[in-house]
Amino acid sequence: MSVADYYDATAATNHLQYERAALRDLSRGYPANYFRLQLLLNSFIENDVERVVEVGVGEGTPLATLARAGMQVSGFDISEAMVAKSRERMTEIGQDPDRIIWGDIEDPTTYVELLRDGQHDALMAMGVMPHVRNDTQVLKNMATLLRPGGLAFIEFRNKLFSLFSFNRYTYEFVMDDLLAGVDDTVRTHVGDYLRTKLEMDKPPVRSEHYAVEGAVGYDAILSKFHNPFEVLEMFDDLGFEDVELLWYHYHPAMPFLAEKDPAAFRDAALALEHETSGWRGLFLCSAFVVQARKP
Ligand SMILES: C[S@@+](CC[C@H](N)C(=O)[O-])C[C@H]1O[C@@H](n2cnc3c(N)ncnc32)[C@H](O)[C@@H]1O
Repeated sequence: MSVADYYDATAATNHLQYERAALRDLSRGYPANYFRLQLLLNSFIENDVERVVEVGVGEGTPLATLARAGMQVSGFDISEAMVAKSRERMTEIGQDPDRIIWGDIEDPTTYVELLRDGQHDALMAMGVMPHVRNDTQVLKNMATLLRPGGLAFIEFRNKLFSLFSFNRYTYEFVMDDLLAGVDDTVRTHVGDYLRTKLEMDKPPVRSEHYAVEGAVGYDAILSKFHNPFEVLEMFDDLGFEDVELLWYHYHPAMPFLAEKDPAAFRDAALALEHETSGWRGLFLCSAFVVQARKP
């Protein structure tokens, strides 16, 4: 199962996550991307961004929102269905659909034409880093699309959230990351203990036929988490400056507890979004955006 196949299959419904109505509608998934877009929009406006390129445009809502704010936008995606949706979205808002092309961030030859008018003031890549093989090379590729002094906004799934989720991800983080290289006897005791304490069957594995026969599952494709401390080192090693972490998709409780009182869980999560304490996001947020300046 390829990443492009997965996103081809979800292209028709992806826009729903950006609808304002989803904020308090418990029959719909948590609208985390809505908060992410708010964070980006403010930062783009504060930094006087004029030309934006998006890697992985998806169905086009974020780029269309920036275009509505007067920014000049372009982008690419590895999914043909997403490219088609985004091009439609551009046409609907009176923008040139040819600003959206098919391309793969792992292969610069596929998107060079977006540099025809020069490098960009800002680049965004939301939901792309979980799916790429070589993080460093991809970040270098992204940097070539930015002018010196330009800003990158790149999203990652937060591996440290697994310390709060008390589920199979907690087990994997402790065994594979925290205790990597520790004596096997000790690891066996820890593993035996954790398996009795954690919700090891949660969240359900979204494999290929997760929802219905023939459906595509997110866990059937490469979908990595990242440790924010390692991500900061990576941006530092690549020479990026003014690196900041923007936190979103807060969880006020372990996710499996949400079913006990979905309304209370939703209200508490909404109240936490955009909190500014600085450190709680490290553990309560399942995702973060790195904002960084190319020197
Ligand atoms: C989670 S979706 C997010 C879409 C959009 N950025 C948004 O925020 O709504 C991730 C998108 O990245 C695209 N993508 C994944 N890997 C890619 C790659 N190597 N090159 C370009 N696009 C990619 C997917 O096809 C998908 O449309």
